[in-house]
Amino acid sequence: MLLLNSRARLVFYVHVRTRMWSILRNKTATATTMTCFFLAHSLPPPLFSALFKPSPPLSAGFPGAGWGPAIRSFCSRSDRERRAMADRLEGFCDPSSISYLTQREAAEIDENLMGPLGFSVDQLMELAGLSVATSIAEAYKASEYKRILAICGPGNNGGDGLVAARHLFHFGYKPCICYPKRTPKPLYTGLVTQLESLRVPFLSVEDLPSDLSSEFDILVDAVFGFSFHGAARPPFDDIIRRLAGMRKSDQANKKSPAIVSIDIPSGWHVEEGDVSGEGIKPDMLVSLTAPKLCAKQFRGPHHFLGGRFVPPPIAEKYNLRLPPYPGTSMCVRIGKIPQVDISSMRENYISPEFQEEEVEAHPIKQFRKWFEEAVAAGLREPNAMALSTAGKDGKPSSRMVLLKGVDEDGFVWYTNYESQKARELSENPWASLLFYWESLNRQVRVEGSVEKVSNEESELYFHSRPRGSQIGAIVSNQSSIVPGRQVLHQQYKELEEKFSDVNLIPKPKHWGGYRLKPELIEFWQGQQSRLHDRLQYCPQEVDGRRVWRIVRLAP
Ligand SMILES: Cc1cc2nc3c(=O)[nH]c(=O)nc-3n(C[C@H](O)[C@H](O)[C@H](O)COP(=O)(O)O)c2cc1C
Repeated sequence: MLLLNSRARLVFYVHVRTRMWSILRNKTATATTMTCFFLAHSLPPPLFSALFKPSPPLSAGFPGAGWGPAIRSFCSRSDRERRAMADRLEGFCDPSSISYLTQREAAEIDENLMGPLGFSVDQLMELAGLSVATSIAEAYKASEYKRILAICGPGNNGGDGLVAARHLFHFGYKPCICYPKRTPKPLYTGLVTQLESLRVPFLSVEDLPSDLSSEFDILVDAVFGFSFHGAARPPFDDIIRRLAGMRKSDQANKKSPAIVSIDIPSGWHVEEGDVSGEGIKPDMLVSLTAPKLCAKQFRGPHHFLGGRFVPPPIAEKYNLRLPPYPGTSMCVRIGKIPQVDISSMRENYISPEFQEEEVEAHPIKQFRKWFEEAVAAGLREPNAMALSTAGKDGKPSSRMVLLKGVDEDGFVWYTNYESQKARELSENPWASLLFYWESLNRQVRVEGSVEKVSNEESELYFHSRPRGSQIGAIVSNQSSIVPGRQVLHQQYKELEEKFSDVNLIPKPKHWGGYRLKPELIEFWQGQQSRLHDRLQYCPQEVDGRRVWRIVRLAP
């Protein structure tokens, strides 16, 4: 049995806090490195203006912003970063705020990048391919869309496709390549060698299955980019026809791989789009650097922007208005996130087996093991737990609270003793806690009775909190109605002044901790085909001793 005194508990808090902060600091460091990388490629202002003259704004049209990755990154940032990002995101929700490039402008930008701005084609291709791969990974999970066919043309677009396929391999997808007209330059032969070393299969046009739909989940159209003009020649004319035709016939069967076009749907006019109306209708378009004019006609569910290498002089010269890249992401969604059919949302959990033989005899020991793994996995707030209570009316209510300590005596959190949960707990001490660690496919369920922690313990924790949180706890008459936000702010300001010369802010009587003593703990780990592991611990009396019995429950 594991028994920890309050000092050991404190050590545990400090350990957990330190690890969380070190993970947070690492994340910030990565973001800073990326910013430095970006700035390092910009030139001093006098050189900018010598190189570039401003040109009039480009035509615009923006179907409304969907900020999936942006919101994710937003959530993992510091308050200051979040505020700055929120301002920027708001600015880009304006539908007329994004720029589209003509073919000439796109070519000019490439010339500038690879001329005065010092980029090589290899670098741009690597970053473009990585952007495409990360965009695909944002929209199509490897667990559902594993089998990818990248159809690569002879030019840069084909090279982007080869790079994307390499990254997709490393992301856990199974790419195949169709690269019928290989370019004999070292850059391209190198890309082929890299893919061959990963044992990525290359298929000739003749080897392609007659029914692409049955063999692949994603078809990457990396045939022609923005510099292509004229009519497609064999074998690409036929491949493009297959891609365009396949969508129509497969729509009838409700079975079709997702078509992802890189920069331009092959066969489309760079500015006028699908002129014949018979061209490829991709599900996803990954625009590179900035969308080309034809992208205005894109009607698929996923439009992403990639190519996070545009230096300020280019953005200024072409008056580029583009959505900001979230965090360290190489891609950003343009437009709305498509509506999802909630009933079709499902995950196939893949985890190592969770066996009776490997679990700890004591559930708190097992809990700590999993908790430490959740911390090590870099989960945000792994100590967040849903607390469910029910008062004498028997009506349950749930809310999140933060675990602030755990030992054999139970699970501790702090709150307001006059809140709804406190009222319910005073009427009925039975409650449950629930942890969900999504990326580990794990859930822990705890049930038991609740008691207040000692005043001494609450005092100790109260004074370990930041001053702002201490004042906030005094201000908040939790769960009561407030006339407006400004009332809270006003009270906060008054207390800040009142305590400005006070070293130790007194803990209010109405604030303190609760401890739930577990009567039942269940560890759940998601597995394939819904055959999840559920190991439940419940206490039993054996020879007058309380021991934990472990049973497996049906999923
Ligand atoms: C992630 C997260 C952590 C929270 N942690 C706490 C906490 O530790 N203590 C607390 O009183 N409220 C916490 N809250 C707020 C509660 O969910 C809830 O709004 C508040 O306690 C009032 O609940 P009640 O009216 O049911 O008493 C947290 C909310 C979230 C989303």
